[in-house]
Amino acid sequence: MNKTTLSDDVINAPEHPSTLSNGTDTTATAKGIEWDTYGPLLDIQAGLTPDYWENVDVLIEQAKRAFPNYETAELSICDIGAGTGNFTRAMANVFKKSTIVHLEPNKNMNAIAQTKFSDDGLTNVEIVGKDFFSYTWTENQWDIVICVNALYMLSPQVETLAKIHRSIRPGGFFYVVDFGREQDASQWFWYFLKNALKGINTKKYIQSIPKWPQMAAQAREGGKTQVDGAWWTHETEEFGLALEAAGFAVSNLEACYCGFADRAICRPAAP
Ligand SMILES: C[S@@+](CC[C@H](N)C(=O)[O-])C[C@H]1O[C@@H](n2cnc3c(N)ncnc32)[C@H](O)[C@@H]1O
Repeated sequence: MNKTTLSDDVINAPEHPSTLSNGTDTTATAKGIEWDTYGPLLDIQAGLTPDYWENVDVLIEQAKRAFPNYETAELSICDIGAGTGNFTRAMANVFKKSTIVHLEPNKNMNAIAQTKFSDDGLTNVEIVGKDFFSYTWTENQWDIVICVNALYMLSPQVETLAKIHRSIRPGGFFYVVDFGREQDASQWFWYFLKNALKGINTKKYIQSIPKWPQMAAQAREGGKTQVDGAWWTHETEEFGLALEAAGFAVSNLEACYCGFADRAICRPAAP
């Protein structure tokens, strides 16, 4: 596998941190997702999607395997684009002696996350209200870096991945899940309906109905932003190539999240 087979949008994408950190790109026709109001919708969607929680479970399983002393380990962990805190929260409850930086620029997302951390009595989470580009990344800073469904906005991804790669200590790993395929609201709603008919999350499904117009509108905007090319789209193989091009040794590369996203576990490859 080599870097030359990566698509141009990964290699040559212009850096546009400020335009995308709040989901708004003034140069593109699509507006992107409105992160200011999206937090509650994200949690409703997560509540209807067992595959979302599978991504949490895979992270925890991998982290426990990499650090069997997880109860006492004093690690530095960063969750990039941490949203409403579901991944940070799960890690903080397992790695009680470690510090988990919840890196998320949106204050409404952070308010929702803070409520969850307080509910669990967590004192090992630091909420940092910055975006990826204004945060200072240094070498060998982290034992674990998590980035779930945010990398597609952090262009150019090759540079972003190189920064993350340098920041991970030997023995650590990068857990990444990324929306690669175009968002299609109708497919999500079929998936929710099929589950509900099987008795999976049926009550939550019914409760979510009033929010469907907002959820569908946000999914449509996300899809348009992907089609515009402002958000990186990829197939699983290209995703793996981009991670390898940044110097990672990639394992467990697979499609996930109802086939819309890709997931990988990445270690800094030996020099
Ligand atoms: C789809 S949500 C994913 C949230 C969380 N990781 C999860 O999976 O539940 C994407 C998040 O990335 C954040 N975000 C957008 N631009 C960002 C940037 N430049 N740096 C860091 N986070 C960013 C958004 O505010 C949003 O909370």
